[in-house]
Amino acid sequence: MFELDGKTAWVTGSTQNLGREMIEDFAELGADVVISNRRDRSVLDQAVDEVEAEYGVDAYGVQLDVSDEDSVIDAVNEINREFSAPDILVNNVGIRPHEDYDEITLEDWNRVIATNLTGGYLCSKYVLPEMIDNEWGRLMFISGVDAYFGTTGRIHCVSTKAGLFGLTRAFASKVGQHNITSNCLVPGVFDTDRNLENYPGLEDRYKVWRGRAPLGRLGQPEEFSPAAAFLATDEASFITGQVIHVNGGLFPTVQGPSHFDLDSEAF
Ligand SMILES: NC(=O)c1ccc[n+]([C@@H]2O[C@H](COP(=O)([O-])OP(=O)(O)OC[C@H]3O[C@@H](n4cnc5c(N)ncnc54)[C@H](OP(=O)(O)O)[C@@H]3O)[C@@H](O)[C@H]2O)c1
Repeated sequence: MFELDGKTAWVTGSTQNLGREMIEDFAELGADVVISNRRDRSVLDQAVDEVEAEYGVDAYGVQLDVSDEDSVIDAVNEINREFSAPDILVNNVGIRPHEDYDEITLEDWNRVIATNLTGGYLCSKYVLPEMIDNEWGRLMFISGVDAYFGTTGRIHCVSTKAGLFGLTRAFASKVGQHNITSNCLVPGVFDTDRNLENYPGLEDRYKVWRGRAPLGRLGQPEEFSPAAAFLATDEASFITGQVIHVNGGLFPTVQGPSHFDLDSEAF
């Protein structure tokens, strides 16, 4: 039960944080893995070496810009030629610039849409032919609670994260006949390293999120990745077209934890 021997899993944006945790969980279950980023080759090479050393699986590093169709085609061709066609694809890349709606230029808007939404479409489009040939596959998309709360200061990001729900379901309808599932995972707020320029007032935001979550804390990245690992297995073969939340109860409850003292330092 719960193994991925013989499978190849590609997680986009996976040298760090949630993407890296998913890579490590897939590797722990026996999958060979494709790790990717966009900018720093040495960071990517280090991640490949670390995962191979720790889990004893084969790992491959590929750099791409998911918003650029030629770059996606080149990356998928390279993976298929040099390594092994992905059986599992997690579209994890997401950028979250903080800009109010009236400061966003059309160029900003298009960049976020192209990265967060079009990127997931393009990577899926170009890995699907091999999955269809193999009559087995797993597509996943990583959304965010912003899509539900309509978080201010990132209307472009919120729009893409909501758009992923439709993309998930459209692929589920289209490729289910080939034994390929398509699901969307929605992380709550996780204690990941952040680019602080993108998160003005981060500590205050954390305080609010902690206060809203019944568990009264942020999630740890290793509390997110097992959901993706499970969805990748044969045991999840009848789960498709779903939007699954991993958020400490943040979304379904409005009142937050009953044990929280609003005046305390912890809050
Ligand atoms: N962390 C959270 O609490 C949280 C909460 C809700 C939702 N999420 C979602 O979960 C996903 C992962 O979040 P994270 O915080 O773990 O991510 P992260 O640390 O910000 O990492 C993002 C990754 O995406 C890559 N990337 C960015 N633009 C790219 C592009 N155009 N082409 C290819 N790769 C690109 C980055 O590569 P480079 O480093 O080379 O730029 C990096 O590896 C995102 O979709 C995010 O929106 C996270």
